[in-house]
Amino acid sequence: MAAKGGGEQVADVHSSERAKTLLQSDALYEYMLKTMVYPRENEFQRELRLITKEHSYGFMSSPPDEGQLLSLLLKLTGAKNTIEVGVYTGCSVLATALAIPDDGKIVAIDINRDYFDMGLPVIAKAGVAHKVDFREGPAGPILDELLADEARSGSFDFAFVDADKPNYGNYHEQLLKLVRVGGVLAYDNTLWAGTVALPDGEREFTEHDKAIRDAMREFNAKIGADARVEPVQLPVADGITICRRVA
Ligand SMILES: C[S@@+](CC[C@H](N)C(=O)[O-])C[C@H]1O[C@@H](n2cnc3c(N)ncnc32)[C@H](O)[C@@H]1O
Repeated sequence: MAAKGGGEQVADVHSSERAKTLLQSDALYEYMLKTMVYPRENEFQRELRLITKEHSYGFMSSPPDEGQLLSLLLKLTGAKNTIEVGVYTGCSVLATALAIPDDGKIVAIDINRDYFDMGLPVIAKAGVAHKVDFREGPAGPILDELLADEARSGSFDFAFVDADKPNYGNYHEQLLKLVRVGGVLAYDNTLWAGTVALPDGEREFTEHDKAIRDAMREFNAKIGADARVEPVQLPVADGITICRRVA
């Protein structure tokens, strides 16, 4: 919430009160979750989802249908070494760790170790903590460190970006050097609650939502014109853009 003139409040587009989905009917989303997602959810994913839901920033977490999509993509592409930007309590990290082989690794980057520590006991119980190489700090310099190690260039099969939206364009440039040709780069929240397509002035937004909407518009235009990747944008969760690196 942010204050507007006259004591009124403008609501954030994402909050704990609303499911993170672009589907227009909550009933349809519930139906999908109950039919296709919850019955297939690993017991540890369920535990972590429920712990995360209770946290004050629980709405930041990627929803379980998105975890299911990531898991399928990782398995279809046979990904082994991955990068994740934006870990929070680790819901997408856990989905990834369960999907990659036992000798696979996730370089998992977040500026906040405390959030990850909330989820780590569940990730450990799931038997996949050894696959997570957590790095604490801002993603830009950590990706630069990876880039400085020549052996890491083009060594990753998959990257998932879910943090610091205004820097998606910069992360894309770094990740294009780290992910191999034929590998996958996935970007979360690229439709930002549908705001990217709303005509200006149709609805009031907080300054934060406006800034992210503008950043997402810019990033979407960049990817749409980027011949180095073959993209698809799916209206899953808050919009996910999946790119195959072609050059
Ligand atoms: C949307 S949450 C990630 C959700 C997570 N992927 C999941 O499935 O639950 C975003 C996370 O990015 C982290 N973050 C914000 N800015 C960052 C930055 N510049 N570099 C790295 N992490 C950042 C935040 O601490 C937060 O935990």
